[in-house]
Amino acid sequence: MSKKLFVETLGCAMNSRDSEHMIAELREKENYEVIDDFTEADLILINTCSVRERPVHKLFSELGGFNKKKKPGAKIGVCGCTASHLGEEILKRAPYVSFVLGARNVSKITEVLHKDKAVEIDINYDESEFAFKDFRSSPFKGFINISIGCDKACTFCIVPKTRGDEVSIPDSLIIREAKRLVDSGAKEIFLLGQNVNNYGRRFSGEHEKVNFTELLRRLSKIEKLQRIRFTSPHPFHMDDEFIQEFSTNPKICKSMHMPLQSGSNKVLKDMKRGYTKEWFINRVQMLKSMCPEATISTDIIVGFPGESDEDFQDSIDVMRQVEFDQIFSFKYSPRPETEAEHFTNVVDEEVASQRLNELQKLNNEIIDKKHSGLIGTTYEVYFETLNRDNFVAGRSNNNRVIRVDGSEELLGQFRNVKIIDIGRTILTGEIVA
Ligand code: 5AD
Ligand code: SF4
Repeated sequence: MSKKLFVETLGCAMNSRDSEHMIAELREKENYEVIDDFTEADLILINTCSVRERPVHKLFSELGGFNKKKKPGAKIGVCGCTASHLGEEILKRAPYVSFVLGARNVSKITEVLHKDKAVEIDINYDESEFAFKDFRSSPFKGFINISIGCDKACTFCIVPKTRGDEVSIPDSLIIREAKRLVDSGAKEIFLLGQNVNNYGRRFSGEHEKVNFTELLRRLSKIEKLQRIRFTSPHPFHMDDEFIQEFSTNPKICKSMHMPLQSGSNKVLKDMKRGYTKEWFINRVQMLKSMCPEATISTDIIVGFPGESDEDFQDSIDVMRQVEFDQIFSFKYSPRPETEAEHFTNVVDEEVASQRLNELQKLNNEIIDKKHSGLIGTTYEVYFETLNRDNFVAGRSNNNRVIRVDGSEELLGQFRNVKIIDIGRTILTGEIVA
């Protein structure tokens, strides 16, 4: 009889892929199957994120809830980024936790399972060539890690402390994985890394120097592969060659995530982002002129220490110039072991909230304006999810979420869809011949 596994995944796409890796290892080596009800589980995993607030006490209250209602004898494991930075402390504050497994150590899941109170959080551990077993949450598209860790030193960001130095995964392994996915029916792959376009700087062994642009070229030669997406690129590494390849390679989906963080040169410098407002705008202009159909999304932080009204208006100015198709906006939250944690010119909480509101209001206006122009346009949609309300949803090449009335026969299929109704996050359409 198989054992039961419950997994809660927080945070980014890297974490989702890490959860898939752990599930795969546990299924193949330990005969676990995934279930939705944690009270029935023999093992409960919580794969944590630490990039922003999500106060630590919230994690502990959640753990307390798991502990109270779990099946007698069930184990609880804390994994991911908060595991990496809190380590032992988790066991001290929640002694019923069985093990703590850092974001860079997920390949050790079947090891820690059998060691009571194990804490594996080594951020120098190299699993870049580890061959994980296979588990995919979607048959239609597959996530592939292309690097682990991050070599940047953005002063607000905890990730280099939770995921360690950047190591690229050899391109031969990535291509093998992509072929395997395509052979099993996926038509789209999603390449993952903290800083994908810095790919190829360092491998753990001797490997041919392949950069991200070359990796994209090689992957696009896989015949049955139709769509390639990736996240996240860094504006600093967006050289001309990369933008050209992005714009001209038909298999690369035309949506670019360009995390701005701030439009102020002073704040960008304090954040150690490595580019200026002018460089960012220049990259957007090149992208828009080479690839007008591309959508652009971004991340913006408001209330970073020392951000004046004028600095904030620089972020607003970039928003007006670029007209992003999607913005993920956050109030700055100080993180342990980061440089900015020690910055003293803190922005008043109220001021930060007002800025966030202003930014989100402008973003809504931009989106509404852009979307209203989409009625009557046609997109090729790759259908991936069946919603409970009888809608089938998928994405256009340029990453717009589009739904149509339909049934599961559409899943895994490409169809041309004409937009008949618009919302801020989802468009509704009808299939055209
Ligand atoms: N405070 C607020 N937002 C943050 N991000 C990363 N660190 C912080 C922080 N300390 C945001 C950045 C990043 C996204 C994943 O999370 O915008 O691009
Ligand atoms: Fe992902 Fe960063 Fe959150 Fe870790 S801290 S899960 S890398 S978003």
